[in-house]
Amino acid sequence: MRPLVPSYVETLKPYVPGKPIEETEREFGLKGVIKLASNENPLGPSPRAVEAMRTAAAATHLYPDATSFHLVRRLATHVGVRPEEVVLGSGSNELIELLIRTFTTPEDELLLCKGSFSAYRISAQAHGRPFVEVPMREGYQYDLEAMARAVTPRTRMVFLANPDNPTGTAFGRKALEAFLAAVPPDVMVVHDEAYFEFVEWPEYASAVELFRKHPNLVALRTFSKIHGLAGVRLGYGVMDAKLAGYIHRTRMPFNLTVVAQAGGMAALEDAEHVRRTRDTNRQGLRYFGEELPKLGATLTHSHANFVFADFHRSGVELYDLLLRKGVIVRPFANQGFPTCLRISVGTPAENERCVKALREIFA
Ligand SMILES: Cc1ncc(COP(=O)(O)O)c(C=O)c1O
Repeated sequence: MRPLVPSYVETLKPYVPGKPIEETEREFGLKGVIKLASNENPLGPSPRAVEAMRTAAAATHLYPDATSFHLVRRLATHVGVRPEEVVLGSGSNELIELLIRTFTTPEDELLLCKGSFSAYRISAQAHGRPFVEVPMREGYQYDLEAMARAVTPRTRMVFLANPDNPTGTAFGRKALEAFLAAVPPDVMVVHDEAYFEFVEWPEYASAVELFRKHPNLVALRTFSKIHGLAGVRLGYGVMDAKLAGYIHRTRMPFNLTVVAQAGGMAALEDAEHVRRTRDTNRQGLRYFGEELPKLGATLTHSHANFVFADFHRSGVELYDLLLRKGVIVRPFANQGFPTCLRISVGTPAENERCVKALREIFA
């Protein structure tokens, strides 16, 4: 008998999401558990988006606009590109899948950074695409020079998370441009900018500024982080119109819900919510940057909405101790970081609670 699934599905280890609050409360008999585990927006969604989605809920008996006409146009104006250069997805995660499905064959190879965002590896394997992983360099940084050297005639697509998840590190314009110059133009370079709105580093460059000069470059962005709409599933890609056209051929016609389209439109109008989110994040990064080293942790310079802390002891054990105190964070032992935790920036009260729990554990 033939196997039920291809071998690459048989051996596929699914994505491990952050542990849900409700499950933790049930398991440990706790109340008031806080989750600093999935880089969500601690201020919640934009109130304007909530209002728009409430209104849109009344029209959910109808199929959504398959072209997301209004959101695509609004977003194109917001980003400063043409509507034909924008593709929406059910989270940027769907766009990762769509890029792999549309532009690669099982004979092609994907090039990834070892230890970076696991969705690239999982999506590659789920599609039966071979991938090569290049280790990070010192300081949990992408090694773009080694990645450029690892390109072979089989390489078809490269994923770069910038800022990176889970390490929070980033690389600047010069490094990105040098990489683009070193990579053949028929290798697609996907620059994942899920956290770009949190970056306050003048040397950072978005692929949106560079994709006209480099038509093999794609920018991926999301409403899950700064806009606080992770539960709605809304992401977008900015790319050459020809590439976008191919994705429109392969995507599901109704990949964006009525609610997501309405929420996205309203979120883009709420500059105040974005500003407050950025301020809260800056304050939280500073707080963790001051407090966690006092507990012996070494932090990377995070450009995102989380910190990546090496506690120099078992991360899984520490994660477990924090769970018992009602604080959910994220260990990364299975991604090659056995002594590190990723802690999302929460509200000031949540951040303090996390530090207090750590102090008690270390006391
Ligand atoms: C680097 C990176 N890319 C993409 C995503 C996916 O975001 P979403 O599918 O919610 O848009 C995440 C989520 O954590 C991420 O960290």
